[in-house]
Amino acid sequence: MTTQTREPAIRVQAITKSYKDLHVLRGVDLDVAAGSIFALLGSNGAGKTTLVRILSTLLKANTGTATVHGFDVSSAPGDVRKSISLTGQFAAVDEVLTGRENLVLVAKLRHLKNPGAIADDMLARFSLADAGNRRAATYSGGMRRRLDIAMSLVGNPPVVFLDEPTSGLDPQARIEVWQTVKQLAKDGTTILLTTQYLDEAEQLADRIAILHKGTIIQNGTLAELKQLLPSAKVEYVEKQPTLEDVFLALVGDTSDTADEAAMSAGEESR
Ligand SMILES: Nc1ncnc2c1ncn2[C@@H]1O[C@H](COP(=O)(O)OP(=O)(O)OP(=O)(O)O)[C@@H](O)[C@H]1O
Ligand SMILES: [Mg+2]
Repeated sequence: MTTQTREPAIRVQAITKSYKDLHVLRGVDLDVAAGSIFALLGSNGAGKTTLVRILSTLLKANTGTATVHGFDVSSAPGDVRKSISLTGQFAAVDEVLTGRENLVLVAKLRHLKNPGAIADDMLARFSLADAGNRRAATYSGGMRRRLDIAMSLVGNPPVVFLDEPTSGLDPQARIEVWQTVKQLAKDGTTILLTTQYLDEAEQLADRIAILHKGTIIQNGTLAELKQLLPSAKVEYVEKQPTLEDVFLALVGDTSDTADEAAMSAGEESR
């Protein structure tokens, strides 16, 4: 552990990935500091899920290297898998089981001691204690997502990948998930999340990177990204650019309707 503390928790160097003629990742570089929240932004089809799948060893890059928690994803995939959790867009929750039973099941699958105690601890951490003995089918979308994240965190992996953790959730449920993510980072977990919601990146991320046309075109803190645009537009009031203004200026899309279509193109986001 101590030998790894100075290294970034995630290091990505010159990663490329093509699907036949489609060059999705054309040389991606990024570092994620241990214990930080890093948001990867990009339009539909930018390659966010592809990068997350490479980092979680589900997919092989064509060229380049990546390490997670000090382990190389291609030469030590087993060690990487033991160090991470991945929550995708599709919940792993079994609806017939109660929340508690879902958690106990995961703890047993991971050969952990005291699965019942682990489940109770997770239910408490994710504000699901009162609902723990109800079937997951009766949960709201936000509760289900929290349960899904809780299940992926059984065993307390040091690095967590969240691929669009709040897509499809209502504002209240999103805030609940955000609180969960913030608490995880406070406890020292490293989090890489992808999102199309720019306010989500603004709320959560210590650093934000924009993936566009196969490379990271910007990478910085929110304040650094905001400095890329003139800081004050004078209309009636001085207006700071939002991250959305910065994103659209960088990606070059000024059409509201295209933006809305991208935001709601759920069937493409898998
Ligand atoms: N298995 C695959 N075979 C062929 N093409 C693929 C495959 N997986 C992804 N792609 C293509 O690669 C591109 C990047 O897809 P990816 O899912 O990584 O994008 P994304 O940034 O996660 O998009 P979204 O915001 O919609 O989730 C898309 O054009 C997609 O159609
Ligand atoms: Mg995706």
